[in-house]
Amino acid sequence: MVGFFNSPIYNKDMNFKGTKELFTDRLILRKFNINDLKDFNEYASQPEVARFLTWYPHKDLEESKEILENKFLVYNNDTFRWAIEVKEENKLIGAIDVCRYNFDSQIFEIGYCINKNYWGKGYVSEALNAVTEYLFKQVLPSEIRIFCDIENPGSYHVMKKCGYKDRPDLIKVIDLKNEKRTLRGTSLSRFEYTYKVRY
Ligand SMILES: CC(C)(COP(=O)(O)OP(=O)(O)OC[C@H]1O[C@@H](n2cnc3c(N)ncnc32)[C@H](O)[C@@H]1OP(=O)(O)O)[C@@H](O)C(=O)NCCC(=O)NCCS
Repeated sequence: MVGFFNSPIYNKDMNFKGTKELFTDRLILRKFNINDLKDFNEYASQPEVARFLTWYPHKDLEESKEILENKFLVYNNDTFRWAIEVKEENKLIGAIDVCRYNFDSQIFEIGYCINKNYWGKGYVSEALNAVTEYLFKQVLPSEIRIFCDIENPGSYHVMKKCGYKDRPDLIKVIDLKNEKRTLRGTSLSRFEYTYKVRY
C-alpha cells in the first residue's frame, strides 16, 4: 500500500543502526578508538568544557584512559556516540551523542561538547546537522530534544541554528554538582524535520 505506511514519518519500530561514520565538509564523525586518549584528555580536562555538564574535568590521563576504555569504547546497536574529528588536522576535538532515549515514546536526547580551543568555528552546528539528518533518515526516532543551561548561550545558539524549536514546556530545574540549575529545552520532531515545518 502506497501512502502513509510508506511515508518517511511512519515507523513502527526504530532502526537501531548504532554509530555509523558520517562526513561533513570539515569533520569526520566516527566511533572513538584507543588512539584518541591524548585528544580526549585534552578537552575532557578543560573546566570550561565541563562547566555545564554532569561530569567534572578529568584530573589526569589515567582518569581519561579509564573512562575511554570502560565507557566511550563500548558500542552496541543502540549506542549513538560520535567522536568529532577535524579532517584537516586529524584531531579529535569533542563528542556528540544520544545521551538518553525513551523507547516507548521514541524520543531521543542529544548532548555535545568540544575542546575550548575550537569554539566559535561552527563545528558543533556542523556535527549536529549531520547527526540530526542521520537519526531522522535512518534511525527514525519520533523526536529529538536538546537541553542546555540558561546561562549557556553558545549551546542554545547551536540548537536554534540547526532548526531546533523552543519548548517552554520542557524547562526544568536540576541538581548539578551541588547547585540548582535551570535548563531550557528545544526539540525537533521527525514530522517537522521531514516536512521542513517552520514556526
Ligand atoms: C556550546 C558549544 C557546544 C558550542 O560549540 P561551537 O562549535 O563553538 O558552536 P558553533 O561555532 O557551531 O556556534 C553556533 C552559533 O552559536 C554562536 N555562539 C557560540 N558560542 C556562543 C556564546 N558563548 N555566546 C553567544 N553565541 C555563541 C556562534 O557565534 C554561532 O552563531 P553564528 O553561526 O550565527 O555565528 C561549545 O562551546 C562547548 O562545547 N561548550 C562546552 C560544553 C557544553 O556546554 N555543551 C552543551 C551542553 S548542553
